[in-house]
Amino acid sequence: MATYATMVDSLNVGGGRLLPAHLVTAVTVRPTHRRRGVLRAMMTRDLRRAKDAGLALAGLTASEATIYGRFGFGAATSAAETRVDSRGGLEFTASPAGSIAVADNSKLLSVAPEIYRAHLQGTFGALGRQHGYWMRASGAWSEETSEPDKALRGVIRYNQDGIPDGYVTYKSLGWQTDPHTVKITDLVAASDEAYRELWRYLGSIDLVERLTFDVAPVADPLPWMLADRRRYSGSGTLVLTVRDPLGMANGVWQLDAHGGTGIVHPAEGGTVPAGAEAVDIDIAALGSLYLGGVSAPTLAAAGGIRGSRAALDLTDALFTAGPAPYCSTMF
Ligand SMILES: CC(C)(COP(=O)(O)OP(=O)(O)OC[C@H]1O[C@@H](n2cnc3c(N)ncnc32)[C@H](O)[C@@H]1OP(=O)(O)O)[C@@H](O)C(=O)NCCC(=O)NCCS
Repeated sequence: MATYATMVDSLNVGGGRLLPAHLVTAVTVRPTHRRRGVLRAMMTRDLRRAKDAGLALAGLTASEATIYGRFGFGAATSAAETRVDSRGGLEFTASPAGSIAVADNSKLLSVAPEIYRAHLQGTFGALGRQHGYWMRASGAWSEETSEPDKALRGVIRYNQDGIPDGYVTYKSLGWQTDPHTVKITDLVAASDEAYRELWRYLGSIDLVERLTFDVAPVADPLPWMLADRRRYSGSGTLVLTVRDPLGMANGVWQLDAHGGTGIVHPAEGGTVPAGAEAVDIDIAALGSLYLGGVSAPTLAAAGGIRGSRAALDLTDALFTAGPAPYCSTMF
C-alpha cells in the first residue's frame, strides 16, 4: 500500500563537522490509497522515532516541493545546471597541477568512495552517499537501471603527491547531438585544485562542443576559476522561538555562538529573556536557514522568520558560514 525508507548518513554542517542526519526516501502511497493520511501517519511516527533516537536533523530530496513544509522541512541546498561551450577547448588562468589518469570501472569503484569521503569532509552541505552512487560512478549500473552503462567514461585526478583527490564520469550523448554534447554524470573534487583540473581535462577532450553538468555548485568558481571563498563566523547570543506544527522542536531556545562553535539550550523558564536579541521562526524556515543557504532578511520577507532588523542581522552572522552549501547527493 505504501513505501517509506530511511537511513542515517553524515551531513557536513560546517567547520569540517559531520552530523548524523535522518534521511527519508522512497516515499510512495498507492494511487488507490492517496489523501487518506497514510503519508502523514508514516512520517509523523518516523520523525518522532528519529527524534527519540537522538537524531537532531532530518532531510529528504523532495520531488514535489509543496508536500513537505507541513512536516517541518525547508529547502536547504540548491544546485546549478551548467552548460559550457567547449568548442576549441577551455583555457584556464591558473597553471596545470597534478595529473589525470583514465580509470577503468573497477578502479573507479575502489577509489571513488574514498575521494567522496574527502569531499564530504571538506564541503559544507555535502551528504554521505549510498552504495548506488559507486555502482553508477563505476558504470556497473546505469543511471536508471542496474544494467551496466558501457558508454560511461571516467578519469581520476591525482595531486602532486600522487593522492587521488577527484574524479569525473561522463558520457557522450551521441554524434547526432548538435552541438556534440558530453554529459557529466558525476564530478567529485576534494579540493579546489582538483575541481579546476577536472574541468581542464573535460575542456580538453577533442571534438566535444558542449559540456553539461546538472548538479554544479551554485557558487561555481568555473566561470572565474579563481577560488574566492569568504569565511566568517559570528559570535553572540540569539534566542529562537521555534514553531513546529508537529510539536517536536517547539519552544524557546537560546543559541550561544563563539569562535565558530554554537551551543543550544532551552531558554530559562521557557521565555525570551528581557533585552535578548530574539527571532520567532517556523521550523521549515529553520531548516532552510540551518546551512546558511538563504539570508534571514530574505526568509523574513518570505514570512518564515520574524524579528527586529538587528536580530535578523545577528541570525545571519550566526548561520551564514561563507560559501553557499553544496550537496550533489539525491536519495
Ligand atoms: C505524495 C504522496 C506520498 C502523499 O501520500 P498521501 O498518503 O496521499 O498523503 P497524506 O494523505 O498523508 O497527506 C499528507 C498531507 O500532504 C498533503 N499532500 C499530499 N500529497 C500532496 C501533493 N502531491 N501536493 C501537495 N500536498 C500534498 C495532503 O494534503 C496532506 O496535508 P494535511 O495533512 O496538511 O491536510 C503520494 O501521493 C504519492 O505516493 N505520490 C506519488 C509519489 C511521490 O510524489 N512521492 C514523493 C516523493 S518525494
